[in-house]
Amino acid sequence: MTSSIHNQAIGVMDSGVGGISVLKHIRALLPFEHLMYVADSKYAPYGNKTAEEITARCMVVADYLIAQDVKALVVACNTATAAAIDKLRETYDVPIIGMEPAVKPAAAATKNGVIGVLATVGTLKSAQFAALLESYGRNVKVVTQGCVGLVECIERGELDTPETLALIRQYTAPLLAEGADTIVLGCTHYPFVKQVIQEIVGKNITLIDTGEAVAKQLKHKLDEKGLLTKNTEKAEVHFWTNSEAENAEQVTEKLWGHHVEEHRL
Ligand code: DGL
Repeated sequence: MTSSIHNQAIGVMDSGVGGISVLKHIRALLPFEHLMYVADSKYAPYGNKTAEEITARCMVVADYLIAQDVKALVVACNTATAAAIDKLRETYDVPIIGMEPAVKPAAAATKNGVIGVLATVGTLKSAQFAALLESYGRNVKVVTQGCVGLVECIERGELDTPETLALIRQYTAPLLAEGADTIVLGCTHYPFVKQVIQEIVGKNITLIDTGEAVAKQLKHKLDEKGLLTKNTEKAEVHFWTNSEAENAEQVTEKLWGHHVEEHRL
């Protein structure tokens, strides 16, 4: 290991802009780490693709980041993790952090024993999600809801348009009807509409997502491997996208909350 490896960037990837919700937690926890974010927006949503298709896209994006010499890779996408994390870990030598819907913390948080999970169809039908329910969902009732179309709204930067609100109402209604008091935001796009979801379901419902836990896990992994940066100055964050939307950069900027100059993939 060369001494400069500490200063190599951390690669963060998602099907699109959703992983920026995780990137924010990483930035807050590790401000001195260089970050490279890749949005595979041209191929979003992943949620209605087959596991094979998602894995193929993840390999393309990960190849790109690995070629930039990243020292670690964060798959800031529940759907991509479920489909491709094994293949990514088999292929690349760097630490790879994935994510899964927060069923475990939700099962611990629920007071009435009913939790709802909002996620993509791809995540909900994956073997990984079935295993997650087997491990942590046994003592609670878990109501799941695939949210077709919601990722597309967020990709367009439409966080509170009538269409977005209608989809959120449609998808949260069955969870509320079953009595869920805790709802898992099982897709990294959804934290961008957390406020709107909270207004629709009411303030007594607890919403849980995993962005912060992923950032902590990343820090732990880097520390364990001796890969944390020795920098003491705020590092750079670079964004790449293959989006064909004219307003791609504005959407990224809106979600990130700061000026962004987005590179094209
Ligand atoms: N952001 C992704 C996730 O966490 C998936 C969105 C998509 O369907 O592309 O699941």
